[in-house]
Amino acid sequence: MTKNRKLIRRRTFVLGIGAFILASKIKDLNKPSQAASYANRNYAVVGNTPLRDRAATKGLLYGAAVSQRSLAADKTFAERFSQECAILVPESELKWKALRPTPDRFNFDPGDWLAKYARSQGLLMRGHTLVWHEGLPEWFASVVDSRNAQQMLREHIATVVGHYAGKIHSWDVVNEAIDPADGRADGLRQWPWLQFLGPDYIEIAFRAAHEADPQALLVYNDHRLEYDTSEEEARRTAVLKLLERLKSRGTPIHALGMQAHLRGDETRFNAKKLRAFMRDVASFGLKIMITEVDVTDQKLPKDIDTRDRIVAGMYEDYLAVALEEPAVTALLTWGLSDRNTWLSSYKPREDGAPVRPLPLDAQLKRKLAWNAIARAVDNAPIRNQAS
Ligand code: XIL
Repeated sequence: MTKNRKLIRRRTFVLGIGAFILASKIKDLNKPSQAASYANRNYAVVGNTPLRDRAATKGLLYGAAVSQRSLAADKTFAERFSQECAILVPESELKWKALRPTPDRFNFDPGDWLAKYARSQGLLMRGHTLVWHEGLPEWFASVVDSRNAQQMLREHIATVVGHYAGKIHSWDVVNEAIDPADGRADGLRQWPWLQFLGPDYIEIAFRAAHEADPQALLVYNDHRLEYDTSEEEARRTAVLKLLERLKSRGTPIHALGMQAHLRGDETRFNAKKLRAFMRDVASFGLKIMITEVDVTDQKLPKDIDTRDRIVAGMYEDYLAVALEEPAVTALLTWGLSDRNTWLSSYKPREDGAPVRPLPLDAQLKRKLAWNAIARAVDNAPIRNQAS
């Protein structure tokens, strides 16, 4: 091929790419800004019935993550909490770091306090979490090795699940075990339990939990399963593969926990793909729990009304799809009020403005996000029975 023709072909190719990028930019330009698309949305709800009761009419459990400190120190907050919530999950009190100050001692005090509070208020309680790569005590890396890993894992689960047997609605047995970026064909995250015990550590954990409390619902919990990105698509595929493998081996697993930490500035949301994924999970005979929903407002406009409108829009758009799935039996926000949210430290705003990711503001007033959750629950189909 002559030099000239090669040059013409290359130029045409570059022009083509250029035109494509331009077209998508123009398309983006034509797309209303997030602020604009939520600016006129009507977030009106009927009545002011608390979320827990709205959810109950649909056979759903509504609740939130909470810390012993925030409930013990703040009576008004505690009252609002049990008014809105039918189930609680300890934010950190049942993680290894809190439970295992030393290799041979268990500290159940904060967890017991929360269990007593829940019982006194007629709330159910979830357990979070028995196997996770974070929230580990300092001594873990120097004590746990391939010789004692199985015994350490079994002993931890038998002791903790046994201690709360009959008092826990559901346990997040394994949390965030998937990370396709680690390059394994099965998409499992490379971390100590996998290195010491191989992929079977997950099944070992579920069987040990079931043995210690045959009544508790056992959950595999994970994040970044919500959006239409290649990374999250790969995560959904790996999670389905894991669930299918566990079910095929008769592992006592009852549900998938979808954390749903939503991103206020994320527009790549594909309802069809999310619905299909949730249907696939349900087709394994598994329930689904939305376990940690909140909306990061880190990159959103500072104006509070604009920001609250976008955050509310994210809640409503996601929950409208997620709650359509009859296998979804529980919905928990990762906190109830902006007064106590991990995002204040994990995803603070550059402008220093307080973050607003949750249903109630720091004065415990219901926000548009509360309305959005109430609307999504009110419009959701009735499940046969909240389990
Ligand atoms: C977070 C807590 O909210 C923080 O207070 C703590 O410092 C770190 O962990 N996914 C999970 C939760 O499964 O356990 C995490 O909770 C948030 C992300």
